[in-house]
Amino acid sequence: MKVIVTKNYAEMSAVAADMFKGVLTAKKDAVLGLATGSTPEGMYACLVDMYKKGELDFSDVKSVNLDEYYPIKKSDDQSYDFFMRKHLFSHVNMKEENIHLPNGEAADADVEACEYEKLIDSLGGADIQVLGIGRNGHIGFNEPDTYLLADTHLTGLTASTIEANSRFFASEEDVPKHALTMGIGSIFKSKKIVVMASGKEKAEAVKTLLEGKIRTDCPATMLVLHRDCTLVCDEDAYSLVK
Ligand code: GLP
Repeated sequence: MKVIVTKNYAEMSAVAADMFKGVLTAKKDAVLGLATGSTPEGMYACLVDMYKKGELDFSDVKSVNLDEYYPIKKSDDQSYDFFMRKHLFSHVNMKEENIHLPNGEAADADVEACEYEKLIDSLGGADIQVLGIGRNGHIGFNEPDTYLLADTHLTGLTASTIEANSRFFASEEDVPKHALTMGIGSIFKSKKIVVMASGKEKAEAVKTLLEGKIRTDCPATMLVLHRDCTLVCDEDAYSLVK
């Protein structure tokens, strides 16, 4: 795994955006693997800025998002669908038919998960996938457990993730208890992965990730097996690494 340590959040966002720009410049119809959370917000702002300056064109770009709460209405302002439109899709010239997220409104979550995995395969996997990292080391919604799943699936959220994500909801009770998420294998279908981490609350997860031991109780550690994975983190997130 390559590691880039930046001074702060702004620099981390710019470095990750440049990696996306590199892929988009080389391939006009690239498939972007996208993520939600506070971490990539700055990177999306950089991409929107580049688009407005005429440096990027999203007209042939396709996207696949990592995860979505389940069940949730797309119109809910806490849905990942809503987040993506707010931070990226509504600002660039992506075509609606090229935008893909797991459907939090699907009647049958297992069928939806299976369809979503087929979609990822039909797109040939993402050309570049951005990932945040949960405080407990989760990626997407692959939570710490005794085992991890390869394909897109319905999962329960851990108490720690519900607590961490409750900051966006009126109360902890309002946080959905389940989500549809790409599995570790779905994430590994991407040709390039960029993991972003910012702030002291991510320092423990970053430390564990860089120990190089593969542990299902810190799902991010799987990423050391990927052949083109870069961690871009700020000094605070890197602060516990010896
Ligand atoms: C959520 C998302 C993850 C994200 C994580 C960290 O649980 N499912 O994809 O990486 O939160 O979020 P944040 O970047 O806000 O710390």
